[in-house]
Amino acid sequence: MPDQPGGCCRCCCSFIFTLGLTALFMWLSLRTDNPTCYIQNFYLPSLNQTLNNTANNSLVFELKLENGNKDKGIYYDAINLTFYDFPNKSHLMGNYTIPGFYQGHKKKATRLQLVELNKTLLSQATYPNGTANFRVDLATAVRFKIMAWKTKRHKLDVGSDVEVDNKGSKTYQKNMKLRSGASEHKRYCAQMGSLVSLVLLVFLDF
Ligand SMILES: *[C@@H]1O[C@H](CO)[C@@H](O)[C@H](O)[C@H]1NC(C)=O
Ligand SMILES: *[C@@H]1O[C@H](CO)[C@@H](O)[C@H](O)[C@H]1NC(C)=O
Ligand SMILES: *[C@@H]1O[C@H](CO)[C@@H](O)[C@H](O)[C@H]1NC(C)=O
Ligand SMILES: *[C@@H]1O[C@H](CO)[C@@H](O)[C@H](O)[C@H]1NC(C)=O
Ligand SMILES: *[C@@H]1O[C@H](CO)[C@@H](O)[C@H](O)[C@H]1NC(C)=O
Ligand SMILES: *[C@@H]1O[C@H](CO)[C@@H](O)[C@H](O)[C@H]1NC(C)=O
Ligand SMILES: *[C@@H]1O[C@H](CO)[C@@H](O)[C@H](O)[C@H]1NC(C)=O
Ligand SMILES: *[C@@H]1O[C@H](CO)[C@@H](O)[C@H](O)[C@H]1NC(C)=O
Repeated sequence: MPDQPGGCCRCCCSFIFTLGLTALFMWLSLRTDNPTCYIQNFYLPSLNQTLNNTANNSLVFELKLENGNKDKGIYYDAINLTFYDFPNKSHLMGNYTIPGFYQGHKKKATRLQLVELNKTLLSQATYPNGTANFRVDLATAVRFKIMAWKTKRHKLDVGSDVEVDNKGSKTYQKNMKLRSGASEHKRYCAQMGSLVSLVLLVFLDF
């Protein structure tokens, strides 16, 4: 019966194919995207030359967090924000911690906060023309809620340089995105790559 092994092989192949597809769909539905973080506002009264109040060492900043996942909520751990003078993070000027919270899928959250910066460093950071450069770093960990289940913690380490003009405000009016030093894109590619090679291996086996 020459038919028999062929039929069995075909059956096996379709089984493997289904397995591969299932794995692909599982991966697609379990895949999570880190939230996107923006600095919307960054204002230092002491650098506002119209105000003429160098005694005020406050920084007013507004952070926006966007959960872009279609159907996954996010539990944030406490969010640590650190502010340094530019360019090489040699001086810690101040820090602020936003308490952890839960954010539903496709939701945005904003936090408008005031933090007191180190006065000495602040006066040193200003260039003669009234502008200044800073560095903001954000560190936290997030867990994703997939239906009733919580994933393990994923570290989130992002930051950006901020340029402030002589009105005390950040130069670029647009939302300023905080980016990760280690590319997220690279990690995504690695995940995708290992999945593709797994599926290929399974197919090549038969
Ligand atoms: C700077 O100070 C002036 C005078 O108080 C105020 O009108 C202006 O809005 C301030 N600039 C910014 C960017 O807040
Ligand atoms: C800013 O304040 C200083 C000291 O208080 C004063 O001498 C100066 O005239 C003020 N400048 C403006 C533009 O108001
Ligand atoms: C500094 O400026 C901020 C923003 O204008 C204000 O909320 C804060 O009360 C000021 N701080 C002092 C000590 O005047
Ligand atoms: C940071 O910058 C300061 C002043 O520009 C410089 O003296 C110091 O060596 C720099 N440190 C590093 C680690 O680059
Ligand atoms: C935050 O700032 C406080 C005082 O400004 C300092 O004692 C503390 O070590 C800082 N924390 C971090 C994580 O840098
Ligand atoms: C501000 O920074 C200077 C220089 O790093 C440091 O000597 C001073 O202790 C700091 N002040 C505060 C209140 O942290
Ligand atoms: C102000 O001075 C700094 C440093 O010299 C320079 O990088 C910046 O471009 C200047 N900004 C303006 C608006 O001239
Ligand atoms: C945030 O800061 C707190 C207190 O300094 C620290 O215990 C915690 O590990 C920090 N979180 C992250 C993600 O760095």
